[in-house]
Amino acid sequence: MEQKKDFRNYLSKVAKQMILIHDANLLSKLVIRTVTRSLDVKHAGLFLYNKTNHEYIIEVSRGKKGLKIPVGFTKIRNTNPIINFFSNPNLSANYREYLLLSHIQKLKEENKDNKELADFFTDLENELSLYRAELIVPGFFRKDLTVVFFIGGKTDDQDFTDDDIEFVTVLASDVVMAIQNAKLFEDIKQQLDVNKQLLLNTVETLATAIDIKNTYTHGHAERVMKYSMALVKYLPRELISDFQSFEDSLRISALLHDIGKIGIPESILNKPTRLSDDEIDLIRKHPAMGAEILEPISELQIANLGVKFHHEKYDGSGYPYGLSGSNIPLIATIISVADAYDAMLGDRPYRKGLEKEKVIKEIESNKNKQFHPAVVDAFLEAVSKNEI
Ligand SMILES: [Fe+2]
Repeated sequence: MEQKKDFRNYLSKVAKQMILIHDANLLSKLVIRTVTRSLDVKHAGLFLYNKTNHEYIIEVSRGKKGLKIPVGFTKIRNTNPIINFFSNPNLSANYREYLLLSHIQKLKEENKDNKELADFFTDLENELSLYRAELIVPGFFRKDLTVVFFIGGKTDDQDFTDDDIEFVTVLASDVVMAIQNAKLFEDIKQQLDVNKQLLLNTVETLATAIDIKNTYTHGHAERVMKYSMALVKYLPRELISDFQSFEDSLRISALLHDIGKIGIPESILNKPTRLSDDEIDLIRKHPAMGAEILEPISELQIANLGVKFHHEKYDGSGYPYGLSGSNIPLIATIISVADAYDAMLGDRPYRKGLEKEKVIKEIESNKNKQFHPAVVDAFLEAVSKNEI
């Protein structure tokens, strides 16, 4: 009884381990090792169904006395007699949980008058002897045969006990569960990638919609995004905890940084003459208005920091909040440099765009004043590598 409890505990530990493995080959190796060690058998192996190729991959333990599977024999088709037997409920009706070598003798005897069936069971017997298997245990997902264990004799040449057999049948159903879990994991990962692309496409469309309002800055959002992405690579990594997710947020934030301009009339945005104080006040509200628009989307929380604070200045003289130094989120300080760079390069109703060299000098001279010093350094690095 005590032993039975032990093997249950052991099985539940293995099942937990299996759930974490999303690679079929690794999973096979782990369960084969488990079977060989726990049952003290000469060798063990399994067929694991590969849905993509409609074939079963084979994993075999080396076994103490060495089980020799022919070289290159690492896959089998579903025409294999063992697979056929378990895939056909008429054949395996009384043996859905396990099949012993001795059962086949019985089946041969029972069907000796039906040549086709008798031949089939002889083939099945030969197949078992090819793998030197004495016990076969299948695992099904719904009606599909997902895994087949084949197990050699015990090292002490005793018969399998009920506990031995129960151990493998429970393990087989755990393997099926682990495989379904791995598949689900893969599907979710794929779905996440699709969602990420969908979000990015939506953001790009939105960025274009903002750009169109602005006669003088066509393609501005796209360029700010490009400069930001080039620059961020050269920032010291200790400033960013999760680089991959920071990059994703930065891309979206740069594309949407001026989304708040949606609420500002085009007559003001494109005004060729000097703006009144009221008009300046209104324009200076666009970071806060943008943040309000994105606020309900929790997935864009980090990206929204860039939208909200991209006009803050390192020395505290920016708008609308007057934050300074490290109080300004890093994502906003990057967009700030990229935004200023593109703005100075472009033509305005009241002036021509500046030369690239001049703009770079201007950014450099504003290090620690308008801009975060590390971001300026990263910007200059990207420029020197011709990436901006
Ligand atoms: Fe802006």
